[in-house]
Amino acid sequence: MLEKIKAIAEHIRKESSFNPEIGIILGSGLGGLVNEIEVVKSINYSDIPGFPVSTVKGHGSKLIFGMLNGVKVVAMQGRFHYYEGYSMEDVILPVRVMKFLGIKTLILSNASGGVNPNYKVGDLMILDDHINLMGTNPLIGKNDDELGPRFPDMGEPYDKSLIEKAKKIAATHGFVCHTGVYAAVTGPTFETRAEYKYIKYIGADCVGMSTVPENIAARHMGLPVFAISIITDLGGSDIPELITHEEVLKVANAAEQKMTIIIKELIKQ
Ligand code: HPA
Repeated sequence: MLEKIKAIAEHIRKESSFNPEIGIILGSGLGGLVNEIEVVKSINYSDIPGFPVSTVKGHGSKLIFGMLNGVKVVAMQGRFHYYEGYSMEDVILPVRVMKFLGIKTLILSNASGGVNPNYKVGDLMILDDHINLMGTNPLIGKNDDELGPRFPDMGEPYDKSLIEKAKKIAATHGFVCHTGVYAAVTGPTFETRAEYKYIKYIGADCVGMSTVPENIAARHMGLPVFAISIITDLGGSDIPELITHEEVLKVANAAEQKMTIIIKELIKQ
């Protein structure tokens, strides 16, 4: 595993000597932040030997190196989801590669379904904790001590100081921005009414199909993580609303600008 990660990082470094400080992984319908990056180098996933290729609509498939608000970043336009059939090892591979490219902080975005009754479609939620309901864990298997410990602590999965800064940024702009708990499921089905109720009952505020594996991989390596979610639909009420991927993408696109502003200002700080 470690050999593969190092080989991929080595390959990328040959393509570009750019040394990013911050890694960004963009979620469904949220690739637009990339337009704000002054691109220094862009590499298609398909041109990186050993890199998985993204298959889902609404996701680009590029690793983008450049300057965002004066800060050196590497952004993944399009992530790998477990529901696409990738192994967990592949889902988290890019996070590990980014760490070997030198990033000091990881920023994640996603679209999710709100189960907190105070949430509205289009709201933002900063993650301050999560519940892994994926039925698996990306660190299952032989542990590589060079990456991190066998039993990583998960007491602070999302960096407290980044959360505080982001909350202030959102408040300054007058954005509705909650702080809450993200439950991760595998998908690809959206939840049944009973499942949304269960997710709410166990203490989550929203539910989605990503982010947690990447967070775990990052925390394993000691990387601080900031993650933000756009609430694209609401579950948990007794009147079920039809949820489609198209609707999720539409709402994500509409709310994206707010998220972009928060991330841009946060990395500057
Ligand atoms: N459930 C799971 N994943 C999601 C949802 C949802 O309601 N909305 C966007 N991603």
